[in-house]
Amino acid sequence: MAQATRPTSDVCNSSSDLASSESPVQIKGQTVRILTNEELEKLQRDQILVSHFKQQKLEKEAQKNWDLFYKRNTTKFFKDRHWTTREFEELKACKKFEAQKLVLLEAGCGVGNCIFPLLAEDANIFVYACDFSPRAVEFVKENPLFCSKRCKVFQCDLTSEELQVNIPADSVDVVTLIFVLSAIHPDKMHLSLENIYRVLKPGGIVLFRDYGLYDHAMLRFKSGNKLGENFYVRQDGTRSFFFSRELLVELFTGAGFQSLVNEYVMRETVNKKEGLCVPRVFLQSKFSKPE
Ligand SMILES: C[S@@+](CC[C@H](N)C(=O)[O-])C[C@H]1O[C@@H](n2cnc3c(N)ncnc32)[C@H](O)[C@@H]1O
Repeated sequence: MAQATRPTSDVCNSSSDLASSESPVQIKGQTVRILTNEELEKLQRDQILVSHFKQQKLEKEAQKNWDLFYKRNTTKFFKDRHWTTREFEELKACKKFEAQKLVLLEAGCGVGNCIFPLLAEDANIFVYACDFSPRAVEFVKENPLFCSKRCKVFQCDLTSEELQVNIPADSVDVVTLIFVLSAIHPDKMHLSLENIYRVLKPGGIVLFRDYGLYDHAMLRFKSGNKLGENFYVRQDGTRSFFFSRELLVELFTGAGFQSLVNEYVMRETVNKKEGLCVPRVFLQSKFSKPE
């Protein structure tokens, strides 16, 4: 059943998104966005994949490309998330009582747009935060709101480095995974989820938000940028996957999680510069580690 609500803020890795404003209504539902004939034809025409050699190079240089992204954009690219956003509402709902202390892991934290508003608002929270990019981790540490008593930040490749080196097993209440899994090669996504699973408490939850299938960003890729099914590379070498509900559930349940919520969020964004109204699709989900 589709449901209309007010939007929360999202990060979008595209400079033109910065000149956009969102319509006040978003539709939540289980069904995939219906494409126009023109859009369908465009996707069907785009069958040529980036060469195997170039794909291997992109995988090898994934960390470098994200680090260069933060070198170019510093802390100015993504917007801060505040208490109006879904993650914060969900966190409040996780508490059995107001003063309960929660341990959170922000996996793929970037420069900390999610964690700093959170640390500022809630005194009863301890945050672990990690990112692939050493530069992003340094930006987090340099933020005036950073406090080593309430936050531990470290560099980590979620696909190959054990989170348990920095976080005790079975100790985290809530993991936020926001526009991160889409940046990871589909063959390695399960490794990140298994890694996260090991540090999550039984009964703990993962709050997931990322690009959904047929989001405008997917349809905007020009021919020559396709890496595989629903997987593309941007000009700067960073990559983006577009998730269907079905694939996401398969990935999470394959790593041992239970699915609690898994829905598309659709909304129209007005691109002021181009005077265009574009359809955005995100996937917003919640998974738990069985008790
Ligand atoms: C689009 S940004 C999102 C940042 C942040 N979650 C936010 O919402 O502002 C994606 C982030 O994922 C990180 N990332 C990509 N691959 C990763 C990996 N294998 N392990 C850890 N982080 C990764 C990138 O460095 C980048 O900071």
